[in-house]
Amino acid sequence: MKVTVVGAGSVGASCAEYVAIKNFASEVVLLDIKEGYAEGKAMDLMQTASLNSFDTKITGSTNDYSKTAGSDVAVITSGIPRKPGMTREELIGINAGIVKEVAGNLIKHSPDVTLIVVSNPMDTMTYLVHKTTGLPKNKIIGMGGALDSARFKYRLAEALEAPISDVDGMVIGGHSDTGMVPLTRLATRNSIPVSAFLSEDRLNQVSEDTKVGGATLTKLLGTSAWYAPGAAVSALVQAIACDQKKIFPCSAFLEGEYGLSDISIGVPAVIGKDGLEKIVEIELNDAEKAKIQESAAGVTKTNGLLEL
Ligand SMILES: NC(=O)c1ccc[n+]([C@@H]2O[C@H](COP(=O)([O-])OP(=O)(O)OC[C@H]3O[C@@H](n4cnc5c(N)ncnc54)[C@H](O)[C@@H]3O)[C@@H](O)[C@H]2O)c1
Repeated sequence: MKVTVVGAGSVGASCAEYVAIKNFASEVVLLDIKEGYAEGKAMDLMQTASLNSFDTKITGSTNDYSKTAGSDVAVITSGIPRKPGMTREELIGINAGIVKEVAGNLIKHSPDVTLIVVSNPMDTMTYLVHKTTGLPKNKIIGMGGALDSARFKYRLAEALEAPISDVDGMVIGGHSDTGMVPLTRLATRNSIPVSAFLSEDRLNQVSEDTKVGGATLTKLLGTSAWYAPGAAVSALVQAIACDQKKIFPCSAFLEGEYGLSDISIGVPAVIGKDGLEKIVEIELNDAEKAKIQESAAGVTKTNGLLEL
C-alpha cells in the first residue's frame, strides 16, 4: 500500500505519522510546494522509526509528482488553515485553486487512486474534486465527519464522566460550525441511549461544544488543530488499506440519498478497499431531517462560490 499525503504541514505530517505508526502501509510519500519542507518532515519522521517500531518508508518531495506514482490512496491537506475568528468557508478563494491542481496532478500519476480531501471548506473542496476530475464517486472521500464524531465522543464522555471507549456517536452534515448535525438521539453509552444519563440541556451543550470544536482549538492554538484531524484521516486510510468496511461519516457525493442531490456532505458510509463503498441511509426524525436540509443549503451556498 502506497500512500501519498499532499501538504506536509500540521495535518499532513500528523496523518503521515499516524499511518506510519500503525504500520499497515509500505510507503508514505509526503509532498509539499515549500522547498525541502516535505523532505525535512519525512527525514524527521523516519528517525522515529526505530523508536516507534514501524517499517513504513516515508519519503519527501518538493512538488515532484512522479514520486507519487502508483499511489493507492492520496490525502489532500494542501492549502491554508483558518486563523482565530475565521470560518472554514473564508478559505475557499485560495484553497479551491490549490485542491483542483493537486487532484489533477495526483490522478495523472496514479489513475486508480482513492482521494481523501481534507482541505477546507472540505465539503465544497470534495464537490470540486467530483466536478473536475472524472474519478468515480467511490474514489473521492471528504474527511470531516470522522473528526467531528471523535470530538462528539470526547464531549459526550466528558459529560457522562465515562471512558471514551464506552461511548458511541456520530456527526453528520456539513463540516462547518453551523452545518454539523451531532446525532444525540442515537448516541449511546454501552448500548444505552445517552439521554438516560444526560438532560436535554446538557445534551444540547454537548452538541454546541462539538460544533465549535475546531474553532475552540483554533482560538487556543492560533491555527487549526492537527492531532485529531491527522488521526481521523489515518483511520480512513487504514480502513481502505485493510479493507475494514468500517462506517465513518464522510463527505460523499449524493444522488438522492437523504433527499439530496448534486452535493457532497457528511453521511455514514462504509469504507473499504474500494473507497467509499456504500452510503448508509439511516432513519432520521423530522428535526434531524430539517437540520440536514439546512446544513445542505449552507454547503450549496458555498459551492456556488466555485468557478466550475
Ligand atoms: N477536514 C478537516 O476535518 C480538517 C481538519 C483540520 C484542518 N483542515 C484543513 O486542512 C488544511 C491544512 O491544514 P494545516 O493545519 O495542515 O495547514 P498548514 O499550513 O500547516 O499546511 C498546509 C501545507 O500545504 C502546503 N501547500 C500549499 N499549497 C500547496 C500546493 N499547491 N501543493 C502542495 N502543498 C501545498 C503548504 O506549504 C503547507 O505546508 C487547511 O485547509 C485546514 O483548514 C481540515
